Order: sequence, then structure tokens, then C-alpha cells
Amino acid sequence: MTTDNFPKRLLVTGGCGFIGSNFVRYWLGQHPESRVVVYDKLTYAGRRENLADLWDSPNLSLVVADIGDMDALRRACKENQIDLIVNFAAETHVDQSILGPLVFTDTNVRGTHVLLEVARQLGIRLHHISTDEVYGHIRDDHQSVETDELAPRSPYAASKAAADQLVQAYAITYDLPVTITRGANNVGAYQYPEKAVPLFATNAILGEAIPVYGDGLQMRDYAHVHDHCTGIETVLLHGQIGEVYNVGTGREMTNLEMVDIVLDTLGKDHSLVRHVTDRPGHDRRYSMNVDKLKALGWQPKYDPKEAVAEAAKWYAENQAWWEPIRSGEFREYYEKQYAERLAGTPS
Ligand code: NAD
Ligand code: TYD
Repeated sequence: MTTDNFPKRLLVTGGCGFIGSNFVRYWLGQHPESRVVVYDKLTYAGRRENLADLWDSPNLSLVVADIGDMDALRRACKENQIDLIVNFAAETHVDQSILGPLVFTDTNVRGTHVLLEVARQLGIRLHHISTDEVYGHIRDDHQSVETDELAPRSPYAASKAAADQLVQAYAITYDLPVTITRGANNVGAYQYPEKAVPLFATNAILGEAIPVYGDGLQMRDYAHVHDHCTGIETVLLHGQIGEVYNVGTGREMTNLEMVDIVLDTLGKDHSLVRHVTDRPGHDRRYSMNVDKLKALGWQPKYDPKEAVAEAAKWYAENQAWWEPIRSGEFREYYEKQYAERLAGTPS
């Protein structure tokens, strides 16, 4: 079945986060006749200011609540006559999931389950945002396709895989109209600086060390967040109900190559790089085949090198956005995650 009903009233969970806020801005720019309700708990990663330019708009509103709160969710969907839920809400950082895993199960598994239950009760289509990490790390000669088995290896990836399976189970058991996109590593504006590209860019701008885990030869597909947004839009408008679509560029690079692009874009010295103790269970390589999405007419606009360079430039030009973040609670996390790792490296 193709989607013939154009979604007019969207509940975007996690819409104050990195990808969610980019999606809301993109969607309202493309479809100004639709209404968007952002539903967000505003964790450390969820920031109202990511949509500061849009809050005055009559077709955007914010509900501050948890996706695990069934009453609040039902109310938000009913009061706003929601016809599509797009679920970005999640705990999203692998390193945080190693330090404190239980909240990942609370939000990513139980929260998604509550969302599915509300969607089922009210008969609302749900689009779920997943990740390439559910496939686990993969052989050098393979690209993950949507039918591959899920083999997650971090608490974050395992919680996302569990959520994917719940979404698919609801489609099978209750005939709930669902779609899933599995995104590659996204980069771009408003990414919280715990993730590698914004961490490295902001450290470089501040003249601080760049902590590369292990040998830095791990491979990622660094995709521009704009292309993720257009990929999701393509699936919302033209995807098959019940189907899963990979979204990425299909091309990966090593972390050391990514660091080179960040430093060269910012004109910073490569002597800032430090190889530090590796992440436990670090996935060596992600790579996805994106032909299924391309068959719907989608094409990425940016190659991974451009995507990383554009992201680094955004951090150079938007210091006012990230400086308050880096001087706040982020410091405590940074100390926990990096102080010991960096102490053992030459300066
Ligand atoms: P993010 O951490 O920047 O934002 C997450 C958002 O979810 C925040 O606004 C936060 O406040 C909100 N949130 C967290 N827990 C919540 C809860 N219990 N109830 C309501 N809101 C809650 O994340 P992101 O990088 O924008 O990722 C968005 C989605 O995309 C996630 O589902 C993630 O797994 C997926 N994804 C991310 C990437 C990536 O590279 N960042 C790649 C592929 C898929
Ligand atoms: P990250 O942005 O955390 O995304 P993910 O782990 O979900 O792919 O990390 C991207 C890559 O960069 C990953 O291979 C881990 C590596 N990395 C570092 O080498 N140092 C760091 O400080 C961080 C945060 C990540």
C-alpha cells in the first residue's frame, strides 16, 4: 500500500534535538500548510533554542513531556488531531549508554512502546527513526540491507534494535501503519557536542586535544542531516507502509580521515590529535546500501566529505550556540569520559 494521505498534523517527538529540529525546520519550510507539534522532554540534548526562529510561527507548538507518559501523549495527539507521529525522541549517545545504560531502555524501548500503544489506540500512523547501529559492525565487503538480521553491540544500539522490533511487531500484530528509517551517522547544525564531529570541531576551535579512540581506523558514513531529512520526507510521502529504509550516502571514511577534514576546514594544527583508550565494544565499521530509498526517487545532496566540512564550518560560525553548552553540565560528562584517557597522552 502506498501512502495516499498527505500528513497535515504531525507530532514530532524529540523535535528539540539535533535531527528532530533540523527535520521540523525542513518540513515546515517545504510544507507550510501543515502543523507541527514538537513533543520533547528537553533532556540535556533537547534545546528549545534549536528552533528559536520558529516558535512564533502559528503552525508550530511545543509540549514538554516524556514519550513514556501515556496520558500526556494521548492528550497531545487528541487535542491536536494528530495524523502522523514521527519518533525522533531517544537517548542517543553510545558513550553515555556505556556510562549509564538504563535510561536508554526507559526511553528508547519503553518510551517507543508507549508511543506505539497510543498510536494503536488512536489509529495514527507512526514513523520511527532508527539507526545503522542496529545492524552491528559489519565485514569490510558488506553493506547492510534492510533485511539483514539485527546484531546490536552497545546498550544504545540494543535499545534501538528492540524499538525497531516492537515497531515491526505492532505492524504485524495490529496492522498499525508504520514505516522505519535507519540513518547513518548524521552531521550538521545543532548536534550536541558529545558526538565525534561537533566534539572535535569545538575542541579544535578551543585549541583542546582531539581524543581519537584507538587507532582511529573505524569507519562511518558521515551523512549531512539535510539528506536525512529529505530521506525521511521521501518515505513519509512515497514509502510503502510496513517497510524499512536505510538513509545514508553509502560511502564511509575512517575517523582519522574525518578528523583531517575537520582540522583542515578550521585551519587547525594536526598536532591536536591524541589517540586515547578505545571505547569498549567499539563497532569497527558501519555501511549501508541505500538503493531501496533511491528507488523512491531520493538522492543525497552532500558527499560525506562535504557534510563533515559543512558541519565543522557551522561550529566555527555558531560559537554562541555551543559555548553555553560546553561550559555547563557538559563539563562534568567530559571529565568523566576523557580526563583519564587524556591524562596518559603526550601534550
Ligand atoms: P539528540 O540526542 O540530539 O536528541 C534527542 C531528543 O529527544 C532531544 O530533544 C531530547 O530532549 C528528546 N528526548 C529524549 N528522551 C525523551 C523522552 N523520554 N521523551 C521525550 N523526548 C525525549 O538525538 P539526535 O541525534 O537528534 O537523534 C534523533 C533520532 O535519530 C534518535 O532516535 C537517534 O537514535 C536517531 N539517529 C541518530 C543518528 C545520529 O547520527 N545522531 C543517526 C541515526 C539515527
Ligand atoms: P559518535 O559520533 O559517538 O557516533 P557513533 O559511535 O554512534 O558512530 O562517534 C563516531 C566515531 O568517532 C566512532 O567510531 C567513535 C569515534 N569517537 C572517537 O574516536 N572519539 C570520541 O571522543 C568520540 C565521541 C567518538
